[in-house]
Amino acid sequence: MDKITIDTGFEGLSAEQLLNLGRNRPAYYYSRKRIDSQIKLFRDTMPKTTKLAYSVKANPFPPLIQFVAGIVDGVDVTSYNEMVACINAGVPPNSIMFAGPAKKLYELRAAVSMGVRISAESISELQRIKEIADILNCTAHTLLRVNPNISIKGASMRMGGTSSQFGIDESDLDEAWRLIDNSRIRFSGIHIYWGSQCLSAFAITEAQQASVDLVEKMSAKFPEEPEKINLGGGFGIPYYERDNLLDISAVAEGFKPLQLRLSSKFPSTQVYLELGRYLVCEAGIYVCQVIDTKKSHGKAYIITDGGLHHFLAATGNFGQKIRRNFHLAMIPTKRIISDETSLFEVEVVGALCTPIDVLGHKLHGPKIEIGDLIVVNCAGAYGRSASPVDFLSHDHPGEFLI
Ligand SMILES: Cc1ncc(COP(=O)(O)O)c(C=O)c1O
Repeated sequence: MDKITIDTGFEGLSAEQLLNLGRNRPAYYYSRKRIDSQIKLFRDTMPKTTKLAYSVKANPFPPLIQFVAGIVDGVDVTSYNEMVACINAGVPPNSIMFAGPAKKLYELRAAVSMGVRISAESISELQRIKEIADILNCTAHTLLRVNPNISIKGASMRMGGTSSQFGIDESDLDEAWRLIDNSRIRFSGIHIYWGSQCLSAFAITEAQQASVDLVEKMSAKFPEEPEKINLGGGFGIPYYERDNLLDISAVAEGFKPLQLRLSSKFPSTQVYLELGRYLVCEAGIYVCQVIDTKKSHGKAYIITDGGLHHFLAATGNFGQKIRRNFHLAMIPTKRIISDETSLFEVEVVGALCTPIDVLGHKLHGPKIEIGDLIVVNCAGAYGRSASPVDFLSHDHPGEFLI
């Protein structure tokens, strides 16, 4: 049975400060300190030569991009707007890797002319990149995103080793090598992305090993030493009570020999891992307020002004196969909390007119009153930007980097 715990605030901010800063509306709060310590954990554990890219899709809040960009080695973007946000944050274009299917011509034109590294996702995209470089009379720095033949297990979201819109199938690479003539299209490296949200160090190591084997297999065709080899990421975080913490020391032990193998074969190549949620997810909370409480057919409801429109993933509607509770806490307002436990199992719900707007199902914990704050943890990634914020026309949630 999942429990609601009691918090006193967030990063030194009291309930009152959170409410005042957020203008009494639901809001996301992200902690610089927590992001910084997670990135330090990566740096201190993984090989020193391994480069770290931040996947902006996890959280594109501009102040957060600015902060993270200052302490990582590069970024992974998937749209014109993410690319421009990174340029505005001062990321050098040669440290921006632009992946993703369906890149529009204006996106490719901007990327090529700025010298952004483009991960080509198909043969026809490679052709478009070449045409644009011809028209602009410049060089397009291009990585090949490869969809390996082998199936890589272990990730909750698998994005390689199977039929997919992502990457160029290993079996189609001959055509790609023909197009990479190193005049208009400059070979900037290889990108392999096998999946996300993996909590098994063993599975991550297996995937990385298979990726490095594939890089070595392809290397006979490389026209020159790659500038970058991006091996993806997939490091997961514990969203749910029974999830284990990823053993990053074990990941590092598995990765050291692979980094060594790559460094000795390609001494000047930057070997990247690209991570989103691992760096920022646990550094963020989403806070909403209890507007009403009631019982219906014997069930107790805590009704908040937040919900699915602000934080889709926390309600289990972001592609999760089974709905489970993110960890919820409450911050009491205007009273001293007693250790009195509610006798009732509660449903914590949002403000929308749909029964799927549930932030917490069958929870036990302290008594919760109108005015108290509900805190949803693991809100630093795939939160606001991955939610239908216009659905039912409520106010958008605020965002603050503390
Ligand atoms: C190509 C690519 N890179 C990076 C990521 C970031 O994943 P995560 O936030 O799980 O690290 C994703 C997620 O879908 C992705 O598709």
